[in-house]
Amino acid sequence: MNVYTTKHDISDAIKVLKGQKKKLGFVATMGALHQGHMALVKTALNQNDVAVVSIFVNPTQFNNQEDLDKYPRTLDRDINLLKTASNNEIIVFAPTVYTIYNGNTTSEHFDFDGLEFEMEGKFREGHFNGVGTIVKRLLEIIQPDKAYFGEKDFQQLQIIKKLVEKHNIPTKIIGCPIHRETSGLAMSSRNERLKEVYKKEAPFIYKTLKTAKIKFGTKSANKVAEWVTKQFAKNKLLELEYFIISDEQTLKPVKRKSNKKSYRAFIAVYADDIRLIDNIALN
Ligand code: PAF
Repeated sequence: MNVYTTKHDISDAIKVLKGQKKKLGFVATMGALHQGHMALVKTALNQNDVAVVSIFVNPTQFNNQEDLDKYPRTLDRDINLLKTASNNEIIVFAPTVYTIYNGNTTSEHFDFDGLEFEMEGKFREGHFNGVGTIVKRLLEIIQPDKAYFGEKDFQQLQIIKKLVEKHNIPTKIIGCPIHRETSGLAMSSRNERLKEVYKKEAPFIYKTLKTAKIKFGTKSANKVAEWVTKQFAKNKLLELEYFIISDEQTLKPVKRKSNKKSYRAFIAVYADDIRLIDNIALN
């Protein structure tokens, strides 16, 4: 498996593949790969000739230095895991911070038509400018036909679709379903850092989302949110940061339900000092 670390080398490899008329599917990651990432890679391989996987812990999307410092970095293990999917049809781009930011590790400013101000945007200042900056740069370097992003970060997925539309980037963005542990916990690189007692309790998040979905069939969004807040108030280990039911397209909180719209419930929870997010389609 070829692993490139410089823009120059990956660009040369891409040029060769494009010359051979190969279709490129792209999966952007921050490493610490798990089965959720592997599902994206497998979809990319199924729909393209080559999967390009980037592994880069992007500093500009972290608003907390400690979170950035503690983010797991496991490049060798990641490469070995990718090899189990394919040795020849995957290439890896694992740049340094300098390669991407050239000594100026700051975000560009983006206008995502308001998508950036909801949910994660409220709690993680500057996060989506950081995500927009890195994803735009990676798409410009790799020039994939299609790029695959998980629905666990549903707001990120909608924002990346907006990024591509607004900047006329000729890559089709494909959302892929959330991958869950058998316990129901949404797969995340952060799960690795959960202490055992929190790992055992964390499936409560998805369990609550599933019940919220049933309740949304007959109750208002406010009533469902009240119920969820009460459940977490009773839970001694998990601390609710937000629970919001929003329109899937605009991500604006629902005021009055309409049959014509698709809604999704979004949640962020602290398990000790680890922040976990999840979401569920409601209709
Ligand atoms: O979802 C992630 O892991 C990151 O936000 C991404 C898309 C790789 C950008 O750094």
